[in-house]
Amino acid sequence: MKSKFLLVAVILSVLIIKGCKKDPEINKEANTPTPYEIPRTAAYPQFKLPANNPLTEEGVLLGRMLFYDPILSRDSTISCESCHRLNLAFTDGAKVSKGIRGQVLSRNAMPLFNLMWNNKFFWDGRANSLQEQVLVPIQAHNEMDLDLFTLVQTLQNSTRYKKQFEAAFPGKIISPEFVSKALEQFLVSVVSFNAPIDQLKFRTDTLNVISASALRGLQLFLTPVENGGADCFHCHSNIPFFGNNSLAGSMSNNGLDASFTDNGFFAVTGKESDKGKFKIPSLRNIELTAPYMHDGRFDNLEEVIDFYSDGINLNSPNLDINILSHNAQLHLTQQQKDDIVEFLKTLTDNSFVTNPAYKSPF
Ligand code: HEC
Ligand code: HEC
Repeated sequence: MKSKFLLVAVILSVLIIKGCKKDPEINKEANTPTPYEIPRTAAYPQFKLPANNPLTEEGVLLGRMLFYDPILSRDSTISCESCHRLNLAFTDGAKVSKGIRGQVLSRNAMPLFNLMWNNKFFWDGRANSLQEQVLVPIQAHNEMDLDLFTLVQTLQNSTRYKKQFEAAFPGKIISPEFVSKALEQFLVSVVSFNAPIDQLKFRTDTLNVISASALRGLQLFLTPVENGGADCFHCHSNIPFFGNNSLAGSMSNNGLDASFTDNGFFAVTGKESDKGKFKIPSLRNIELTAPYMHDGRFDNLEEVIDFYSDGINLNSPNLDINILSHNAQLHLTQQQKDDIVEFLKTLTDNSFVTNPAYKSPF
């Protein structure tokens, strides 16, 4: 019994120390008041709102309308929601997504939440802001295939959108800039910090919050390989995100392949040393976002953990230093694998995927 308490105390202190050290923006005070209320509790990170695009209720609603509206595609068959469904933490459940006229993309749809704390978007990090990002799928020939001129015309011809644009951006004419600003406002308003793991900081009856197995999984997640852990946190760090949002460390090669069919971050920088690097995703809501990795190669979490246990390509060019530093397979036991999966499931936020504020407004 005593040792169980000790374990819990150690894990809690690691969480708290990491929280303080890694994320100086944690703010226990009430937050910067914004006209648009984002649901949150104490100890969430401070907002990082776009400087040139203050959130308003009308702007968020306009963005939400656009997100759910297929008129953003050439033949009005595809909306953002086609590939980003709320019940799946805004992913689509497919290995790789399908765009307009059934065209198959090469990558897995990414989940959408807590995006205001990101500074690189897409698996290869090729967009630096949401305003830049959102216009890409609209115009991409294999996604929504709509040119911005036609989009603006369509919106101008719609009484509903004319009214909502005027409410969101008074006195401005409808243009791609304000389409992207509205979509950014909606995406920024989508936050998820209400999973069982979030209770851990505030409760002493820890085992009533998450299971003993999940606690062991958390400890494996947080412990370096040298000390018998699985060392996930070096990359999926930056608690409370369970992903790496720092500019320097957000792109990494976790050893999926010995040679690359998708060069990832290389497409952005042209540097040989960036081949095979992809955005380190947040593991929040990971239970809901199968299949996994940029190409959706793993069907379930068990396959992902098998990969990290025994399948890392140690010869992969540009393999991350956090793996190279121990340079061996983890060879986790079945119990350890099960514990990590149990822990990952404590990152599921059911209040997020059922939040009426994120549902279709139509
Ligand atoms: C045809 C499917 C499809 C449609 C339609 C689509 N997306 Fe995506 N989305 C994806 C895929 C696939 C990725 C990852 C693409 C990549 O890395 O190249 C992605 C990535 C993103 C990202 C990056 C997230 C991150 O963490 O970096 C955002 C934001 C996003 N989409 C928002 C939108 C919005 C807004 C729309 C509507 C204007 C939209 N998407 C339409 C499939 C789609
Ligand atoms: C060296 C850095 C690194 C380490 C260590 C690491 N990861 Fe990852 N992880 C990544 C990167 C990068 C990706 C995305 C790779 C891709 O798609 O090409 C990823 C993807 C994932 C995914 C799939 C996410 C998605 O949305 O598809 C899961 C789940 C995951 N990691 C869990 C873990 C667990 C559990 C551990 C510890 C056993 C771990 N990771 C250790 C870097 C790392």
